Amino acid sequence: MERLQKVIANAGIASRRKAEQMILDGKVKVNGELVTELGVKVSDSDHVEVEGVELTKEIKRYFLFYKPRGVVSAVTDDKGRRVVTDFFVDIPERLYPVGRLDYETSGLLLMTNDGEFANLLMHPRHNIEKRYIARVKGIPEKDKLQKLAYGVVIDGRKTAKAKVKMRSFDKVKQKAIVEVVIHEGRNRQVRKMFESIGHPVQKLSREAYAFLDLRGLNAGERRELSHHEVRQLKSLAKFGQNPHV
Ligand code: URA
Repeated sequence: MERLQKVIANAGIASRRKAEQMILDGKVKVNGELVTELGVKVSDSDHVEVEGVELTKEIKRYFLFYKPRGVVSAVTDDKGRRVVTDFFVDIPERLYPVGRLDYETSGLLLMTNDGEFANLLMHPRHNIEKRYIARVKGIPEKDKLQKLAYGVVIDGRKTAKAKVKMRSFDKVKQKAIVEVVIHEGRNRQVRKMFESIGHPVQKLSREAYAFLDLRGLNAGERRELSHHEVRQLKSLAKFGQNPHV
């Protein structure tokens, strides 16, 4: 369900503010009934009419994108940096990222124009696993990695349990590659987790999101998700497990 003014704005009819005014002015009907108050929510199956013309619904699109380093996870950037939507200029629907990866982080990012889907997946309760590969400074001892796995305090709050695995290390160059699986999505979480144990991240990439990974893609490339994958993601978020995987 989405707010009526948002649905009108997303259809490209007016800004959200103007859409609100149109509702208050009695120009909007939902399923044939006039709606003149704000706060009404509608779903895909509702028929919305603005000034007597039915909204044509944007088809829903879902992409798996390999975000390169040095790209902002947003639709615009006031500093003029590259943004993720620059990689989708040939797609007419208005896509936005599901959550975000830091400017310097590369890896798997979902892009969609389906707000309900995005909210569902981003909701902290929905425990979607994300797997990161971090190159960190120094070689963390086992007990420090265990600390990460049990939870460390960042921004005054303990992180949830994580899966942490040393993948490789280089004694000469004093760096290590560590795999971390988390299901929270706090701001710069992985970087802050490693900072808290004294091994700052030098390079970070998200390799997997739920059952999806980057196989077959290079940085900057994308593929459209199949209907089946979209359904699997929804069911994973709603029911916490995937019956098909
Ligand atoms: N954790 C981070 O520190 N950065 C990201 O981009 C994602 C998770």
